[in-house]
Amino acid sequence: MDGSGLADGVIQLRGWRPSDADWYAQIAAADPLIQRFTSESPTVTAAQVRTAITELAGRADAAGFVICDSDTGNRLGNIALDHEDGIGHVSYWLAADARGRGAATRALRLFAAWAFESLELTELRLWTHPDNIGSRRVAERAGFRRDPDRDHPRQVKGATWPTVSYALPAPNRPQISSTSAP
Ligand SMILES: CC(C)(COP(=O)(O)OP(=O)(O)OC[C@H]1O[C@@H](n2cnc3c(N)ncnc32)[C@H](O)[C@@H]1OP(=O)(O)O)[C@@H](O)C(=O)NCCC(=O)NCCS
Repeated sequence: MDGSGLADGVIQLRGWRPSDADWYAQIAAADPLIQRFTSESPTVTAAQVRTAITELAGRADAAGFVICDSDTGNRLGNIALDHEDGIGHVSYWLAADARGRGAATRALRLFAAWAFESLELTELRLWTHPDNIGSRRVAERAGFRRDPDRDHPRQVKGATWPTVSYALPAPNRPQISSTSAP
């Protein structure tokens, strides 16, 4: 699936192309927030991204799209997941100039609907650093709920990060039970 047709009038999702690799590497390696809050390597190169894009096309256990502006087609960010046993693990980022206008929330809503329908997943999960207020708000606005049983420290780029977890069950499945506030 190349993502064409995944759109809400403001943003669209499309499959990665080798020609996107320079843009991806430049943003992911240099952006301070992406470096602070994601597992993207600070030394990622366009060649590595091109290889990853080629491999992604052949993977049955992963999917990823470019978040684009619907009007201009300009690239805004990245949204991806890997999945196993019906559980998908989502990650996302936006380029700095694409933030602050709800694009990530729109992308996550579209991506989740697509993943449940096309990959027949039973649940989507994500985790973030507790200090990543923007990402937590995106998850909540896209319908994810706190899943505190899965909060645990994670090894990221050679450091131990505290994390908070979120989950979104497939439509028509029972909600996770949680008494903790986000
Ligand atoms: C997380 C990210 C995708 C959110 O992008 P976005 O869609 O532009 O989100 P916004 O800037 O609109 O912020 C979403 C909400 O969080 C709030 N927010 C964002 N940063 C905040 C901060 N530092 N402190 C408090 N609130 C913040 C915004 O005010 C907004 O609140 P609202 O829902 O009440 O309007 C973007 O910041 C990003 O790419 N960050 C770096 C990569 C990253 O952290 N990825 C997620 C890893 S889990």
